[in-house]
This record gives sequence, structure tokens and C-alpha cells, in this order.
Amino acid sequence: MKILVCTDSSKHSMKALKMAAQVAAGCKADTIDIVHVYHVDLHLSDLHSTVSQIEQYEFMQKFKKEEGEKILDAAARVFAGLNAEVNTILKEGHPAGTIIKMAAAGNYDLIVMGSRGLGGLKKALLGSVSNAVLQEVQTSVLIVK
Ligand SMILES: Nc1ncnc2c1ncn2[C@@H]1O[C@H](COP(=O)(O)OP(=O)(O)OP(=O)(O)O)[C@@H](O)[C@H]1O
Ligand SMILES: [Mg+2]
Repeated sequence: MKILVCTDSSKHSMKALKMAAQVAAGCKADTIDIVHVYHVDLHLSDLHSTVSQIEQYEFMQKFKKEEGEKILDAAARVFAGLNAEVNTILKEGHPAGTIIKMAAAGNYDLIVMGSRGLGGLKKALLGSVSNAVLQEVQTSVLIVK
């Protein structure tokens, strides 16, 4: 069994990681891929800055990469002691689209993610990433509340 777990470092995604570890142990999963997607977006106001767009982009990219690596290291620790191959995957792009592409290419049996993430609005049951992934992928999705 091959599982993809998605983390944005939120409380919900931490629950998703723990649930994925339980499922992986119970099902004797052989591969767990943990993905974090970061996105660098520069704001319009930045256009007037004296620092070039490229420099700003590279600065933010470096920051987000380092942050992403920390998020993935912490996530991998949840699977410590499990007799499975655990891979951490850091991607740059739009979270939903990137996860959907990975799902199409990765031959996963299950995708595990939180119902919500870091986003502030709590009215909807699902966030935009979990909603889009659930709608678009052919793979079964476990949404952890
Ligand atoms: N950047 C990301 N990288 C990897 N997984 C993510 C990322 N963002 C969200 N996820 C996954 O999707 C789940 C739901 O998060 P989502 O972003 O959909 O909710 P939200 O942040 O509350 O809403 P929104 O982003 O629409 O404001 C998270 O618990 C996590 O499993
Ligand atoms: Mg979000």
C-alpha cells in the first residue's frame, strides 16, 4: 500500500499525519510520501520597492524552502518506528494543483489530508485545497476532521 499525506503544518494536518501513521501501521503500508507545497507570491505593493522582483522572489523562495524542510522533518517524525519507506517531498507551486498532479502520477492507494488547514475562515467544512483534491483525484481520499 502506498499513501500520500499532505501537510501545511496546521493542527488539522498534524491530525492527518497521525491518522495516516495509524492506517499505515494497520495496513502494513510499504511507502508513505509526505508532501508540503509552498507558494511564493509577491504583492503588488512590492513592485515599488527598490529591491528587484527577482531578489524578492529568491529571498522568499529560500525562506519558504527552509520552512518547508522543517515542516517535513517534523512530519516524518510522526512515522518513526514504522516499518515502511517514508519519503518527504517539497514542491513549489499551487498546493491543490500540485497535489492533484502528484496523485495522478504517483499510483497511490490513499491520500490523507486535513479537512481544514492554516486558512482563517472556518465556516466551510473543507478548505479550498482539500475540496479541490477531493473533487479532482481518482484516488481515495481520507479527510481527517
Ligand atoms: N501547502 C500545502 N501543502 C500540502 N498540503 C496542504 C497544503 N495546504 C493544505 N494542505 C492539506 O490540505 C488540508 C486542508 O487545507 P486547506 O488549505 O484546504 O484548508 P484551509 O487552509 O483552512 O483553507 P484555505 O486554504 O482555502 O483558506 C490540510 O490539512 C493539509 O492536509
Ligand atoms: Mg490552506
